[in-house]
Amino acid sequence: MKKFFMLIICAAFVNIFGACGAQKEVPQEMINDFVTLNSGFNMPRLGFGTWTLDDDTAEDCVYFALKVGYRLIDTARYYGNEVGVGRGIRRAIDDGIAKREEIFITSKIMPGNYNSPDATIDNSLKSLNLDYIDLMLIHQPGYNDEEVYRALERGVKAGKIRSIGISNYYTPRDFDRIKNIATIVPAVVQNENHIYYQNNELQAYVKKFGTVIESWYPFGGRGNTKKIFSNEIIQSLAKKYSKSPAQIILRWQIQAGYVAIPGSSNKNHIAENFNVFDFRLTADEMNLIRGLNKNRRFENW
Ligand SMILES: NC(=O)c1ccc[n+]([C@@H]2O[C@H](COP(=O)([O-])OP(=O)(O)OC[C@H]3O[C@@H](n4cnc5c(N)ncnc54)[C@H](OP(=O)(O)O)[C@@H]3O)[C@@H](O)[C@H]2O)c1
Repeated sequence: MKKFFMLIICAAFVNIFGACGAQKEVPQEMINDFVTLNSGFNMPRLGFGTWTLDDDTAEDCVYFALKVGYRLIDTARYYGNEVGVGRGIRRAIDDGIAKREEIFITSKIMPGNYNSPDATIDNSLKSLNLDYIDLMLIHQPGYNDEEVYRALERGVKAGKIRSIGISNYYTPRDFDRIKNIATIVPAVVQNENHIYYQNNELQAYVKKFGTVIESWYPFGGRGNTKKIFSNEIIQSLAKKYSKSPAQIILRWQIQAGYVAIPGSSNKNHIAENFNVFDFRLTADEMNLIRGLNKNRRFENW
């Protein structure tokens, strides 16, 4: 009988954490590994990305991500899943998994697509069913992006948004174009950033303004993950630490001072990607990975 109950408990555990197996208990201070933004708010260094997830999948995966410990969720108006993301968050709050103030939610406005960026902020709040958004970004450069940034600043003043930033601005010049018209310096630049395309120079430049680089495509994105996971150095570190290549890459991202938001619709992967707080890469290993940079992007937007 005792054996039977043990089996049930093990089955439930595997069901929650998937084939990646036992998650060690993670020290609380490591789960709360965050960076303080120039806005004064804390942002977790590891989050969950929701691009390509439809509303139902997003609801399910966001709820699961919060359950396994994530406190940063990334969405965008363009993804069409703010409603699902909002539902997953609400369900987690209602179930006592996390309080609203412990969760950091990012959304984005695409310039050019909307007549009124102010109304778009309200629409995002409505879709997400939230009183405020932690971070709102201009999704990418566009003909009226400076006007969109001013709307984000109005959103901050109105208490609808806490921190603001930009996405897909890759050079100091791109960054300065927005900073120079801003009354609030961007807190975050969210860019494609992975082992083969490292935002080192931009990171060094924006650091002066207290701005943080957040990495989209930490694994190269769908269809490219093998090119990143099969890298020999990543493979050998995975072996050394008994971790997966994905976990080595996320550990590198965090230690390099980036915020990373891996995306997934696979619960085993979602749990695995959060299990990176029980080991540390050495300075030499960090440099080895830094040396993999080829300045090669997978996308061109
Ligand atoms: N600002 C922007 O313009 C922009 C652009 C792109 C993305 N983003 C944001 O950045 C997030 C991350 O980008 P992304 O999701 O497109 O790409 P990604 O995180 O680099 O890679 C996602 C791919 O990796 C796979 N994967 C995830 N964890 C894995 C693991 N542990 N082992 C093996 N495979 C794994 C996923 O497959 P499974 O689903 O099977 O796990 C999926 O195919 C997005 O979700 C979005 O929130 C922003």
